[in-house]
Amino acid sequence: MTHQVRAVVARGKGAPVSLETIIVPDPGPGEALVKIEACGVCHTDLHYREGGINDDFPFLLGHEAAGVVESVGEGVTDVAPGDFVILNWRAVCGQCRACLRGQSWYCFNTHNAKQKMTLLDGTELSPALGIGAFAEKTLVAAGQCTKVDPNASAAAAGLLGCGVMAGIGAAINTGNVGRGDSVAVIGCGGVGAAAIAGSNLAGAAKVIAVDIDDRKLETAKKLGATHTVNSKDADAVEAIRELTGGFGADVVIEAVGRPETYKQAFYARDLAGTVVLVGVPTPEMKLELPLLDVFGRGGALKSSWYGDCLPSRDFPMLIDLYLQGRLDLDAFVTETIALDEVEKAFERMHHGDVLRSVVVL
Ligand code: APR
Ligand code: ZN
Ligand code: ZN
Repeated sequence: MTHQVRAVVARGKGAPVSLETIIVPDPGPGEALVKIEACGVCHTDLHYREGGINDDFPFLLGHEAAGVVESVGEGVTDVAPGDFVILNWRAVCGQCRACLRGQSWYCFNTHNAKQKMTLLDGTELSPALGIGAFAEKTLVAAGQCTKVDPNASAAAAGLLGCGVMAGIGAAINTGNVGRGDSVAVIGCGGVGAAAIAGSNLAGAAKVIAVDIDDRKLETAKKLGATHTVNSKDADAVEAIRELTGGFGADVVIEAVGRPETYKQAFYARDLAGTVVLVGVPTPEMKLELPLLDVFGRGGALKSSWYGDCLPSRDFPMLIDLYLQGRLDLDAFVTETIALDEVEKAFERMHHGDVLRSVVVL
């Protein structure tokens, strides 16, 4: 059997997205069919639409989603119809070299659905990050479904599926922020704001938010920033040093993805401190640093892929903290929109008006 559902498709490079009817097959072995309840709009969706990721048009966009499992294929035991799940793009294989050494958050061979979703004429769709959730229903590998407490709001929960998890994980997993640490976060969009919330959860004593947009600094305060710096008016490195006894922060999280902000992060951390790069650079960007400073300042320069998260470990835990009122996921939902408003949401994202627009179905 197959299902015909409405979905947001990017048909060609730079062209506006369109609302289309697509065909979703019933789940085969190891797969799950999920009825989507909410899906956030992420920069990566826009990058797909612009052809910035690859040329495998048409894309089925959307990947920060929560919903309810409708049916599962043969051999699926971890999730069952009726389960409330967050979709992830890290269904770990258990067999690659990362998994075998017990570091499955780096898994190099993650699973997606084997069967293809198609347009009505049979053209195969490429689902964004192997998910494709700007759709009434989508087909994923069962391992991409992480069961969480159904009392969570779908709009808030879905955001853990990508950007918010990337930010929280940059702090708690990659940066290893601990009780009493000083942290600076450069760039306070959805990802940076989540890094601030994550630092707070981890017990940081000082959390310095840096951005060039005062609106983002306001939200950062709501999520627990103890200090804010507008780096349009002030030197970010000087300001962070001043706020940390002249030394720099223990952990600096770069959530913009640009060489100049990376350099700020590099020099704004204390000796032997940690820099975490969670912002995603573009191919033409280059970084130049005195190698002597790389050596002399010591510490760790790390990248954070998807917050180095393990969905099965991190999603249920973070949803529990959310339900206990200790993690304000609702603060990331700037607006809820309908399925046919994704193009408008890209506009607003481009202007920096939102942390996240979330499609609610
Ligand atoms: N200095 C400080 N902040 C900056 C600078 C700068 N030079 N340039 C931009 N910013 C701020 C913006 O004002 C914005 O608040 O960085 C923030 C970026 O946020 P968003 O555009 O909302 O992006 P977000 O979803 O948070 O993602 C950030 O992480 O996952 C990656 O691809 C994503 O590279 C992007 C980054
Ligand atoms: Zn693996
Ligand atoms: Zn994303």
